[in-house]
Amino acid sequence: MPFSFHYGLSLMCLIILLTQVCPHCDLPGPRSPAGPIPSCCMTANNATINEPVNACFVHYEHTFPHCKIHAYILRTKNDDRCVDPTAWWLQQRLKKLEARGICCKIL
Ligand SMILES: *[C@@H]1O[C@H](CO)[C@@H](O)[C@H](O)[C@H]1NC(C)=O
Repeated sequence: MPFSFHYGLSLMCLIILLTQVCPHCDLPGPRSPAGPIPSCCMTANNATINEPVNACFVHYEHTFPHCKIHAYILRTKNDDRCVDPTAWWLQQRLKKLEARGICCKIL
C-alpha cells in the first residue's frame, strides 16, 4: 500500500524532526545522562549554578529510604549539585536544558 507506506514514512520524519529540532523531555528518545548515576541528596539548596550543566536527575521523598527529600541533581563538570525543587531559577534552567536535549532522569 503506497499511501500508508508514505504516510508512515512522513510520520517518522516528522517525529525525527520534532525530537531533533524541538527537543522535548516528554518525547521518547535516547537521552542517556552523562556519567554514572549520582548519589541522592540528603539536603538541597537554592544556590544558583553558573557553570554549564551536563546532566540532570531528580528524586522524590519516597525514592530512597535514606534521602527523604524531593531534589534535583544538576551535574556540572566538577560535581553534582543538590537543588531545592522550589528554587526560583530552577524551572527556567530546566527549560534551557530541555532545549539542549537534557532531561532530568528520574532516579
Ligand atoms: C528555597 O526557596 C524556597 C522559596 O523561597 C523556600 O521555600 C525554601 O525553603 C528554600 N530552600 C532552602 C533549602 O533554603
